[in-house]
Amino acid sequence: MDLKLTGKRALITGATRGIGRAIALNLADEGVAISFCARTQKDVEAMTKSLQQKGVKAHGTALDIRDAKAYLAWIEAEGAREGGLDIFIPNVSAGNAGSGDAAWQANFEGDLMHSVRGAEALLPVLARSSAASIILIGSVAAAETAFGPGAYGPMKAALASYGKLLAEAVAPHGIRVNVLSPGPVYFEGGDWHRVKQQQPELYNHFNARCLLGGMATADEVARAAVFLASPAAAAITGSTLLVDRGFSHAIRL
Ligand SMILES: NC(=O)c1ccc[n+]([C@@H]2O[C@H](COP(=O)([O-])OP(=O)(O)OC[C@H]3O[C@@H](n4cnc5c(N)ncnc54)[C@H](OP(=O)(O)O)[C@@H]3O)[C@@H](O)[C@H]2O)c1
Repeated sequence: MDLKLTGKRALITGATRGIGRAIALNLADEGVAISFCARTQKDVEAMTKSLQQKGVKAHGTALDIRDAKAYLAWIEAEGAREGGLDIFIPNVSAGNAGSGDAAWQANFEGDLMHSVRGAEALLPVLARSSAASIILIGSVAAAETAFGPGAYGPMKAALASYGKLLAEAVAPHGIRVNVLSPGPVYFEGGDWHRVKQQQPELYNHFNARCLLGGMATADEVARAAVFLASPAAAAITGSTLLVDRGFSHAIRL
């Protein structure tokens, strides 16, 4: 299947590790130019080289999205680069920050507001694209009780709600908005890698709940993101796509 992505431009937050990195590399394989950020300069440089080796233009910036002013200045600059942008994927998360005021604030800013600010700043740019797509990175934690009453799941639920509302509002401008909702994803240096080392019983419990042979890989999630971002998914907007190897117990109608 031709995904019709060649020559498109994507902006991804948090693309030096895990799911964001895999999405960037898989989009680059389809001929998509990538702008991305992460906080660690040396990782940004290494990722820029990895993308360039695939023959696409790559622009990496060391940036903390929690600095809203710097983040929006970067969004504006990258949105204007080479005359436009087709795909926006806010992928950074504050992670499972726990409970208490500081944790709720961290997930509010890191999961919800960085996605909202980025999407809304880029709407005029995306409206000029003939293949505009926003993918919000959710989580099964938005609709599962397995993770306890911390801030992470509720903020991902708010993000999913926002995604649906935004999809309706921007459809007349030809912009598709979808939520990609991974289950537990295992990769070296990721959260579940740490859990496996520090809390093996908890890791085994979550791993066994992923019915298709354990936790998903970042590449498996990325391949779904690439399809969803592409003109091949032109009829899909306002949806939440679970990529969880059967982790979820909820029935979604
Ligand atoms: N892993 C899972 O099991 C899982 C499951 C469901 C959903 N998700 C979602 O998938 C997304 C990616 O998670 P992940 O586990 O693949 O990756 P991750 O370990 O959370 O790292 C994501 C990337 O974001 C960058 N980053 C983190 N904080 C940042 C900040 N404040 N400003 C700029 N960049 C920042 C990291 O680089 P630096 O540290 O150098 O900044 C890295 O490149 C998140 O939205 C997460 O909620 C993950």
